Amino acid sequence: MDAVSDHHIDGKQIAAQLRANIASEVSELKDVTGEVPGLAIILVGDDPASRVYVANKHRQTVETGMKSLEFRLSEQTTQAELVALIERLNEDHSVHGILVQLPLPAQTEAEAVINAIAVEKDVDGFHVLNAGRLATGLASLVPCTPLGTVMLLKDRLGDLSGLHAVVVGRSNIVGKPLSQLLLAENCTVTVAHSHSRNLPDICRSADILVAAVGRPELIRGDWIKPGAVVIDVGINRLSDRDGVRLVGDVATSEAGHAAAITPVPGGVGPMTIACLLSNTLQAFRRSLAPAAS
Ligand code: GUN
Repeated sequence: MDAVSDHHIDGKQIAAQLRANIASEVSELKDVTGEVPGLAIILVGDDPASRVYVANKHRQTVETGMKSLEFRLSEQTTQAELVALIERLNEDHSVHGILVQLPLPAQTEAEAVINAIAVEKDVDGFHVLNAGRLATGLASLVPCTPLGTVMLLKDRLGDLSGLHAVVVGRSNIVGKPLSQLLLAENCTVTVAHSHSRNLPDICRSADILVAAVGRPELIRGDWIKPGAVVIDVGINRLSDRDGVRLVGDVATSEAGHAAAITPVPGGVGPMTIACLLSNTLQAFRRSLAPAAS
C-alpha cells in the first residue's frame, strides 16, 4: 500500500512481486519433491493477439521455474483431435495445468473442449464445475483476470466490504466470475451490460467500477464518481491517424477525479498471467497432497 497517493494502479509492479513469490515457492517445492509444476498451453490457429498472449504465458511460466509445454495446432484442427490431446494431458502426471487459448475456430465448440479438461488441471477456471464451485462458495480454481482484478482492488483499498461494485460486462471469463468474487468480499454488486438502461447513472453510483466489455473508451469521465477506484479490463486495438494503439474500455484521460485507475497496457494484463502461474502452482500443490487441500 505504499503507492496510495498514485493515481495509476501499477499492475506491472504488483504482478512482478507475485511472480517473484511464486518463483521462490516453486524453487522450495523443487528442493523438497524434485518436481516442478507443468503447464500445457494449447493454441489453435494463428490469431495474432492470441499468439502474443500465448508467447507471454510461455515465457513467464519458464521464468518462474516451471515447465511449459506449448502446443500449436493448425486452424483446421477438429474438436475430436483437440479433445484427444487434452485427454492425453489429463493423464500426464508431469502436467498440472492445461490452458486452451480462446477464441477457438468455428468448427470447435469451446464449451465441450474446456469441459474435457480435468477439473483439477483447469487453471483458467472455465470448466463448468469450477464455475459452479465458485458460484456456490466452494474452493475452486478461479479465472485469472477476475482474480487479478480483486488482488489489485485489495492492494489499493484493503477491505472491500460494503462497497458498491459495478461490473460492466457479463462474460463467463470476466464479468460473471468477478461478480462472484466481489460478492464473496462482501461488496454490493451490480452487473451491467449492453442492454442495461441508463448505464452512465449506474456507473456513477460505483465505488468500484470494473469495465470488461471490449468497447474502446465506452466509459466516459463523467460516468465516474469522484474518488472511485476504476479497473479497466478492456484491451482494444484502435487504428487511427497515429497508427495502431491499445486502449481500454475507459476514457482514461477524462478520469482524473477517480481515486485510482489501471492503465492499458500495464494494469490488469500482467496480473492475468501472474494469476495463471499462481493457479498452476496451486494445482501442483494439490497434486502433491490432494487430501489436505
Ligand atoms: N482469451 C481471452 N482471455 C483468455 C483467458 O483468460 N484465457 C484463455 N485461455 N483464453 C483467453
